[in-house]
Order: sequence, then C-alpha cells, then structure tokens
Amino acid sequence: MIIITITIIIIIIIIITITIIIIIMIIITTIITITITIITIITIIIIIITITIIIIIITIIIIKSKVNIQPLLLASCLFFAVFGSVRGANGTVPLVLWHGMGDSCCNPLSMGAVKKMVEIKIPGIYVLSLEIGKTVVEDTENGFFMNVNDQVSLVCDTLARDPQLKEGYNAMGFSQGGQFLRAVAQRCPSPPMRNLISIGGQHQGVYGLPNCPGQSSHICDWIRKMLNSGAYTGLVQNHLVQAQYWHDPLNEELYRNHSLFLADINQERVLNESYKKNLQALRSFVMVKFLRDSMVEPIDSEWFGFYKPGQAKETETLQESVLYKEDRLGLQALDKAGKLVFLSSDGDHLQFTDAWFNANILPYLH
Ligand SMILES: *[C@@H]1O[C@H](CO)[C@@H](O)[C@H](O)[C@H]1NC(C)=O
Ligand SMILES: *[C@@H]1O[C@H](CO)[C@@H](O)[C@H](O)[C@H]1NC(C)=O
Ligand SMILES: *[C@@H]1O[C@H](CO)[C@@H](O)[C@H](O)[C@H]1NC(C)=O
Repeated sequence: MIIITITIIIIIIIIITITIIIIIMIIITTIITITITIITIITIIIIIITITIIIIIITIIIIKSKVNIQPLLLASCLFFAVFGSVRGANGTVPLVLWHGMGDSCCNPLSMGAVKKMVEIKIPGIYVLSLEIGKTVVEDTENGFFMNVNDQVSLVCDTLARDPQLKEGYNAMGFSQGGQFLRAVAQRCPSPPMRNLISIGGQHQGVYGLPNCPGQSSHICDWIRKMLNSGAYTGLVQNHLVQAQYWHDPLNEELYRNHSLFLADINQERVLNESYKKNLQALRSFVMVKFLRDSMVEPIDSEWFGFYKPGQAKETETLQESVLYKEDRLGLQALDKAGKLVFLSSDGDHLQFTDAWFNANILPYLH
C-alpha cells in the first residue's frame, strides 16, 4: 500500500515538473520571438530614417554646389527615384542639342544627362541630341576631323526629315556646337528654329586652345601643332574642325580669305542676304559666357566679341565691331528688337548650377 502511494506521488511530481518545464519553455520562446520582432521593426525604422536623411543631404549638397555635367545626372537620377517621371502634359517645343568638341550625342555624363534633365523639367518634350555619324565613336571623331560645312548640311537634312520638328524647334549648342547651330539657323530656315541658345559657343572663333576637355589632351597637343603649322592651308582647313573656326587677329586677311566655315557664316567674304534674313527670324539668340573659362581664348568670343584687328591683347565687344556697326549679319537689328540675350555663368567652360539653368535657360525652352 505504502509503495503504491509513493509511486503515485513520484509520478505526479514528475508530471507536474514536466508540465512546469514545458510552460517555462513556451514562455521563454514567446519572449524571444517578441523581442526579435521588436528589434527587427526598430532596425527597419532606423534604416528608413537614415536613407531619407542621406537623400535629403545629397539633394541639398547638389542644389547648393556647382553642378558640372556629372552631378546633373546624379540630381536627375535622384529626382527620378524620389518623384518618378510625370508624363502627359504636352504642347511642348522640341529641343535639338549639339554637343561640343571631344564629346558625343549620347555620353550619359554629358549630353545624355542634359537630355534627361530637360525631359524631367519639361514633361512630354521631344529632345534630339545630334549624332554626327553612325556611331558614338564616329560622332566624337567627326567633332575633330569632319568638314564643318558638311556637318551642318548633314544636320539640316536630319532636321528636315524629322516629322516631330516640322512645327519648329529650339536649339541648344554646347561649345563649338553653339556656332554650328547658328550656321544651321542661317542656312536652313526650314524647319524654323525658334530660340538659339549658345552655351559657351565661340562666335568669333578662337585664337588659342589653352585647355582641352576630358581625356583628349594628346589630341589637343596635336591640334595645336597643326594650327601653328598653318591653320589656313587647304589641307588643315578641310580636315581639322578647330581650324575652321581658328581666327588669327594678326592675319585677318588670311582668315577672311581662307577660313572655310567661320568667315563664311560671319559674312567676312561676301554678304549673303539669306543669312541675315534667316537669323532675324529667331525669337531670341541667347549667348552664355563662362566668366572663368580656361578652354576658350578669348572668352569674349562667347558673346560675339573678339580681339581688335591686328593684335591679340585688346578686345572689343560685339557692339564695337564692324560686323555689328554695318549690321552685316542682322545682329544689330536683333539687338535693337531685344532679341539678343547675353548671359553669364561664373564658372569654367560649360560649368553651371542646376539653379542657374532653371532661372536663366529654362524659360527659353518653353
Ligand atoms: C508631345 O508632342 C510632341 C510634338 O507634337 C511630340 O513629338 C511628342 O512625342 C509628344 N510627347 C508625348 C509624351 O506625347
Ligand atoms: C547664301 O546661303 C545660301 C544658304 O546656305 C546658299 O544656298 C547661297 O548659295 C548663298 N549665297 C551666296 C551668294 O553665297
Ligand atoms: C585675299 O583675297 C584677295 C582677293 O581675292 C586678294 O587680293 C588678297 O591678296 C588675298 N590675301 C591673302 C592674304 O590671301
């Protein structure tokens, strides 16, 4: 009897112990699970807050700092990521871009970024970044070696064949693309160009290439050598783009007689009335000068000024030049009609901020 009782008690004790252990384990597991969940939630919240703060800081830095082409792209990407693209509203004026020397139509860090930026700022706009040649490499090479008059007629063909441009377009040229698009305006009135925006274009040419953009410094050394050996010889004129807007103020007559491109569009040889008429059809001709430009000599050329003839020290403004006073190109008439716009950006060649672009250029793209 006693043995049976003891056995029963022991069994009961064992059962109670096991139950208690199980209950304790369940409680511990639950506590651990809840803790892990709470920690996970807190971590996620902290990560979200950190990312938001980083995005805000980067945006502020980009807005406040000087924006060359690369940060522009960053800003666009950020904008895209945060707000997405808004499409639909139309009634926009198409925009044609012509890149500068050493660049190409579609470089994601330059023209590609500008195209994207404009597309974000003006939803629905059609932006055509000109490619001179069949590939990006050919496009870049042609910026150095293809006869400029041939490039201009190629572009005129492209524009005339593009159905999206037939109602007219705005044009924005970067560096040498600025004077090339002016030639398009003067030679090819159809489709009509509305606003011509020259970003650092050299409308009176250059007499010096002190610096080269990007990676092309060895090409620049070679170009300088060619220009010094005889910029106005037939061979160099025909095959070197920069020779075609080389303007030697010590040899104005040589320049006038032999410059294949610039002397022609600047009416130095004969007076082509259609150039004058076509240029005056513009709504506005905007010229941007970079106040600390280290690639263009003289910088005045970006506002259509140049060295006074016969020396290479003193400069004259467009308004002081014979071209303006005799109004050979219609620039005086444009000026009097308030259609010549002189803008400046306080930076090196092609450097401007996003805020500067919004305030100064964007109004001409509508
Ligand atoms: C907006 O209109 C222009 C000209 O009519 C056209 O080329 C362009 O494709 C249109 N864009 C959109 C997004 O519909
Ligand atoms: C004037 O320019 C137009 C357009 O490029 C050209 O067709 C014409 O032959 C030029 N006239 C003269 C006199 O050079
Ligand atoms: C420029 O052309 C004019 C007329 O054809 C000629 O009389 C003059 O000698 C030329 N000058 C130079 C430096 O080539």
